[in-house]
Amino acid sequence: MKSSEIRSRFIDFYRQRQHAVIPSAPLVPQNDPSTLFTSSGMQPLIPYLLGEKHPQGRRLVSSQKSFRTQDIDEVGDNRHTTFFEMLGNWSLGDYFKKEQLPWIFEFLTRILGLPPERLYVSVFAGEGAVPKDDDSINIWKEIFRGVGIDAREGERIVAYPAAKNWWSRSGVPAGMPPGEPGGPDSEVFYDFGADLRLHERSVYKRQACHPNCDCGRFLEIANSVFMEYQKQADGTIRELPQKNVDFGGGLERLTAAENRMPDIFRTDMFLPVIEVLEKLSKREYGRKDEETRAMRVIADHIRGSVIMMADGVLPSNKQQGYVLRRLVRRSLLYGRTLGLTTDWKYVGLLVEPVAGFYSRAYPEVLRDAGRITLVLVEEAARFGKTLEKGLREIEKLPLITGETAFRLYETYGFPWEMTEEIARRKNQRPDREAFEQEFKKHQELSRTAAAGMFKGGLADHSRQVTKLHTATHLVHQALRQVLGDHVAQKGSNITADRLRFDFSHTGKISDSQLRLVESVVNEQIGRALPVAFRIMTYREAMEAGALAFFGERYPEKVKVYSIGSFSKEICGGPHAENTADLGKFTITREESAGGGIRRIYAALSRK
Ligand code: ALA
Repeated sequence: MKSSEIRSRFIDFYRQRQHAVIPSAPLVPQNDPSTLFTSSGMQPLIPYLLGEKHPQGRRLVSSQKSFRTQDIDEVGDNRHTTFFEMLGNWSLGDYFKKEQLPWIFEFLTRILGLPPERLYVSVFAGEGAVPKDDDSINIWKEIFRGVGIDAREGERIVAYPAAKNWWSRSGVPAGMPPGEPGGPDSEVFYDFGADLRLHERSVYKRQACHPNCDCGRFLEIANSVFMEYQKQADGTIRELPQKNVDFGGGLERLTAAENRMPDIFRTDMFLPVIEVLEKLSKREYGRKDEETRAMRVIADHIRGSVIMMADGVLPSNKQQGYVLRRLVRRSLLYGRTLGLTTDWKYVGLLVEPVAGFYSRAYPEVLRDAGRITLVLVEEAARFGKTLEKGLREIEKLPLITGETAFRLYETYGFPWEMTEEIARRKNQRPDREAFEQEFKKHQELSRTAAAGMFKGGLADHSRQVTKLHTATHLVHQALRQVLGDHVAQKGSNITADRLRFDFSHTGKISDSQLRLVESVVNEQIGRALPVAFRIMTYREAMEAGALAFFGERYPEKVKVYSIGSFSKEICGGPHAENTADLGKFTITREESAGGGIRRIYAALSRK
C-alpha cells in the first residue's frame, strides 16, 4: 500500500468514529516563539488537552508535519528521521483506553492487514505516584484473545518504566516543567522477525532482544498516550480535570510495516530521492553499510530542508534557520562518502523528487520548488568554502584526538566518521569514547535548553498568565490603531510576570506612541469590557473581521474571541472574563526582533 493510501485510510477510520478532521499546523509554530518546530500532532492542541473547548468538538484526527531536532544524530539507521508525518487522533476528555486500544488494533490489523501475531505491545510499569497500567494490560489481553492469541504479560505485553512508557514533550515526569501535560502510554511494535538477523548484526547483539530493543527487529508503529496528568509548580504530578487520549503513529513507519519492509527508506516516501542519489553517485543503495547510511542521511535531511523552506525558513545562524543550515551541511558532508565532492549543485536535484511526492498532500512545496532549489544550491556553494577551510585545519593538526573531533563537529558540523577517515589517512586513531563523552555533555546542555523552550506561548494557565493573554489581544489592536493596519502579530510569549509580543513594523516606536498605546489599552480595561468567544467557520470569522495569522491553515471551524467591540481574534484561549480583572497595563521595553519585526514587553499591576 502506498503511504498516501495509509494516510487517507487512517483519517477515514477515525472520521467514521465521529472525529473531526483538522489540518496540519505549519512546521514552524507561528504563535509560539518558545519552540522551534512542531514536533508532534498534540503540540497545536495543548490548550484543549488542558481543558479549553475545541471548536471542532472532543474527537479530532489529523496528519501533522513534524520535525524532531533531537533525533538528528540517530538518522542513518533503518527507521529514524528528523522530519516525519504523524497520524494522530485525540479524545479531549471524551473516550479513553477501552475505546482507543481496540480501535488502534482494528486499524492496524483489519484496515492495514498487519498479522496480529506480528504485533507486540508495551505498557507503563508504574513509577512514583503513578500506578502500573493494569487497565491497558487487561484490555490488550482481551483484544488478543479475540483473535485467538494468548497474550501473556512479559511476552507479548511488556511493562516498562517511565523512561520508555511515559510521554510528555519533555520526557519523564522529572524533566517536565510546571504546567506540562503528560501521561503513561502504550506502544505497538511490529516484529519483522528473527530470521532477518537484525539483532545479531546490531550493536545490541550482546543484550537479549525484546519488543522495545533498538536493534531494528521491532519497529514502534503506534503510541497511545493517556494524557491525564499535569506537572505542578511544587514538582508533584496531579490528575488533569479531563482524561485525554493523544495518539501518534509515524506514517513512514506504518508504511514500512504495511509493506513488510524493515527499512523506511525503501518505502515510496523516500525511494524517489534514493534513486536520484544512486544515479548521481553511481552507487547502489544497500550494498555497503557506510554508503547506505550516507544516502539515508542525505534523503532525510534534504526532505526536511525542503519542507521547512516551503514553510518559510531560510538558512541563517539562528533558530530554525540554523537547523536548516545544519541539515544542508550534514547532507554535503555525507555526500563525500558517496564521492559527491566537488559539484555542490547536486542537492538542488533532490528537491524535485521530494516536492513531487508531496504534490497532493502539501501542494505548497511543489509551488515553491524553484525558489527552494535556488536557496539550497546557494547555501551549498557557501558551505563548500567553509568545508575546505575545515579540511585545511585538519591537515595542519599534528594530532587528532576525540576532543578535536568533537570541536570539528561543533564548528564545521563534521560527523565523527568523517574526521576519523581523515585522521586514518594520517595514521591516527582519535578516541571515540572521548568524542562520545564530549558529545553527551553537549547533548545534556541542549536538552536543558530545549526543556526551557518548551513552555509554549503561555507559560501555564494561571490567573495572571491568562490576564496577560487578554492584554495581548488588547495591545495588538491598540498597536494597529496607533501605528496602522500593517501591524500583525508575529509571536507571543507570556509568563506570570510579563507578556512579550512580536509584530510587524519597521523602525523604532517613539515614546509618545508607546504611551498612546498604553493609554488605549488602559482605557479598554477601564471600560470593563466582557471577553467572550464564539465558534464559527473560518469564512465567517474572516467576514466578521477577526484577526488571524496570515499563512496559517485553519480548521473549518474556529474559536473567535472578542473583547467588547474593541478586538476580535481567532484564538484558542484561555482568557480573563472581563477586562476589569486586568489591572494597570504598562509597556516596559521596546526593541527590534529582527528584520521588520518589533518586540515589546509589558506588565499588568497585580490586583
Ligand atoms: N504525542 C505522542 C508522540 O509524539 C503520541 O508519540
